[in-house]
Amino acid sequence: MAVRIDGKAVAAGIRGEVREEVKKLPRQPGLGVILVGEDPASQLYVRNKAKDCEECGIISRRYDLPVDTSEEEVLGIIRKLNEDATIDGILVQLPLPDTMNEQRIIEAIAPDKDVDAFHPETVGRMVRGDSPVWPCTPQGINELFRTYGISPDGKICVMVGRSNIVGKPMGLLMLREHGTVIYCNRHTPDLAVMTRQADILVVAAGHKGLITGDMVKEGAVVIDVAMNRDPETGKFTGDVVFDEVEPIASYITPVPGGVGPMTRAMLMRNILTLAKLRMGLN
Ligand code: GUN
Repeated sequence: MAVRIDGKAVAAGIRGEVREEVKKLPRQPGLGVILVGEDPASQLYVRNKAKDCEECGIISRRYDLPVDTSEEEVLGIIRKLNEDATIDGILVQLPLPDTMNEQRIIEAIAPDKDVDAFHPETVGRMVRGDSPVWPCTPQGINELFRTYGISPDGKICVMVGRSNIVGKPMGLLMLREHGTVIYCNRHTPDLAVMTRQADILVVAAGHKGLITGDMVKEGAVVIDVAMNRDPETGKFTGDVVFDEVEPIASYITPVPGGVGPMTRAMLMRNILTLAKLRMGLN
């Protein structure tokens, strides 16, 4: 039976560490958060991020903009935040309304304030393996690996999903840690053939029930990133059929309570990292 990875507990520890480090800084770190539109999920995420900032002693300044805000207006706010000496990180909550050019907005963020690690300059550093910050979800998973003594070194690591936010950087992170990485996506001819190779299986497809027990090797580490909301019950489930996979895997993340809390905690860590760099303390 797999060990259930307790992301909630690890995340609480990280927030505590960040809070203690923040107390030692010459000034409080600052985060600028831009939310365009009224998507309820995005509103909840942004509210939670503000709550985490408060707990960690980080100042968060929030810009809630109506859905019909122009791209120029958003770019103007980013430019102001880029020049604001009290702001260390800028986060534009995604997805943006369809009317906006997401890439143009992300590229307007100063790379040294790119707290999400979405800017192409940061992505280039990630490919090289020397970025100071990584996207929060992959970094959170890496922190879980460290906490539970799991190492990609010498392992077959299968990444199901190739988004810019999770799949691509997660593969790069495992590669940096000397993993042998296989990327899978919806065009993969026989997914089960690939997933059964995995010593470490990370799944971020957003497809409830995708990974069944017969697709997992005995003793594999299984990380489920997905948060699929059941429209009827409102409950969240992952991509992994938990009851089937738990008896086979060596470690498994539950949904909720596995990767999700780590994503939030790593944002706090990233703000601290960027603030310290800007203060010349790293
Ligand atoms: N939308 C979903 N996840 C994220 C994230 O990590 N950062 C931002 N900015 N938007 C998101």
